[in-house]
Amino acid sequence: MILAASILSADFGCLAQEVQRAERGGAGVIHVDVMDGHFVPNITVGPLVVEAVRRATGLPIDVHLMIEQADRYIEAFANAGASWISVHVEAVTHLQRTVARLRELGVRPGVVLNPATPLTALEEILPELDYTLLMTVNPGFAGQSFMADVMPKLRRIAEVKRRQGLDMLIEVDGGVSVKTAPTVATNGGEVLVAGSAVFCADDPATAVGAIRDAAEGARL
Ligand code: DX5
Ligand code: ZN
Repeated sequence: MILAASILSADFGCLAQEVQRAERGGAGVIHVDVMDGHFVPNITVGPLVVEAVRRATGLPIDVHLMIEQADRYIEAFANAGASWISVHVEAVTHLQRTVARLRELGVRPGVVLNPATPLTALEEILPELDYTLLMTVNPGFAGQSFMADVMPKLRRIAEVKRRQGLDMLIEVDGGVSVKTAPTVATNGGEVLVAGSAVFCADDPATAVGAIRDAAEGARL
């Protein structure tokens, strides 16, 4: 199980230290939420912040693009140091071309599904993906409630992965905490994104460890 710490809830005034706190606690990935005010109502950060995170840690950086016209920006994020980049199936028209381009850029490609988007939307592209990201909130903001209704979809993608022998990670994003991580882990989540549960805690390092323990304990 990999814990992806989402910096959306971090203190940007001391971003490098926040990232290092998460790393110290056992985060395996740093998750960066990019929002454009069009695909989602909120606006967050661009490649400059990815560069800053890159300087702060050796961990892989997982860039979650919640933007329109992602093709115009993926090269900039790759150059900024993104290790993984995911695009929303709801926002990208020529998904296969985008995924192929990400791979060409030396980035691990992923595709994201909103809670209401069915798995069939990515059936044909699955073999080309390094990861699939299932949203357990509607994207746009940190601190929303976990949607347990997505769990049947998570179980189905885990089953598809197993049946087809796919070399693809299954990531889950939204409302993940000590309380919900066991549910995510038992239903097949392998990369757990956590924002507020990590960075709104008194000690982000301890919080990361607690979420990981909760998820791993549930798997035994
Ligand atoms: C939501 C973002 C998430 C967000 C998660 O649109 O994609 O990555 O940071 O935040 P929490 O963990 O607070 O739900
Ligand atoms: Zn995210």
